[in-house]
Amino acid sequence: MSAITVRVPAKVNLQLAVGPLREDGYHDLVNVFHAVSIFDEVTAAEPGDVSAAAPPLTVRIEGESTGEVPANDDNLAVRAARALAGHAGRSYRADLLIRKSIPVAGGMAGGSADAAAALVACNELWGLGLPVEDLMEIAADVGSDVPFALLGGTAVGTGRGERLSRLETSGVFHWVFALADGGLSTPRVYGECDRLREEAGTDPGRPVASEPLLAALREGDAVALGRALTNDLQPAALSLRPSLAHTLHAGAELGALGSLVSGSGPTCAFLAASETHAAEIAAGLKNAEGCRAAVTATGPVPGAVVVG
Ligand code: C5P
Repeated sequence: MSAITVRVPAKVNLQLAVGPLREDGYHDLVNVFHAVSIFDEVTAAEPGDVSAAAPPLTVRIEGESTGEVPANDDNLAVRAARALAGHAGRSYRADLLIRKSIPVAGGMAGGSADAAAALVACNELWGLGLPVEDLMEIAADVGSDVPFALLGGTAVGTGRGERLSRLETSGVFHWVFALADGGLSTPRVYGECDRLREEAGTDPGRPVASEPLLAALREGDAVALGRALTNDLQPAALSLRPSLAHTLHAGAELGALGSLVSGSGPTCAFLAASETHAAEIAAGLKNAEGCRAAVTATGPVPGAVVVG
């Protein structure tokens, strides 16, 4: 094969319970990930330039807000491909092309998704045949959210979010995502969360999975799920981007079953009762303050898959 294309979904966090800051700079989490139908595509191709001077891994980015994505060795997809080559103990070459639809720095794990897609694409292109368990381990080293982008569906992540167990769900959930102008830096949002907690003198304690949320997922009960959505990073995201309060309020006024900031934001997620309801909420949100665009999606969807 001279080129492999992989499609990979965005995620929204249905519960993000954040424990105290650890000594390694991370936080213990209970992180309920849910993969939704907004997809990036990553193609890994045999390089056009095979001269000794050519870099072994190159990356190009197409789509929305691509200017903010590093097109160099810092790109998460390049880092993942390099980690895979390192694991295989050889140097490998590939030209990566990322077609982005997932909002950049939006709290929907777009960079992590591209990393997961690059692992699957290069594993195939280079004929390594590594099992998914090995890819999951490499993924966890690249970033906390990368293993989930391989797995997809709905899953609970513990540790820093990389230790995953699949969750049983019923039916399809309908979502609306309000995209904001510009991104938010994940480390900055976690830092703001710590600062707000210190200021208020609150001790977060050990994060615990929400039983009502797990039951709602099992039963496919969108009304109960809407009530059970929580994100401990939301106060921090709102503190850094106060206009998101208007977006969340607008979604609630439009009858969303639940509203929250997605991960570290600034994308806001709204749960709808049906496809039609989602379209109505999206139409209504277009004029809301702090909302650049609104897109509908469904979940859960599979993780990274080869499509060509
Ligand atoms: O693992 P990843 O590189 O995606 O994490 C990005 C940043 O998010 C970390 O450097 C850290 O500041 C923050 N983070 C955290 N606790 C987690 C996951 C991420 O504090 N469990």
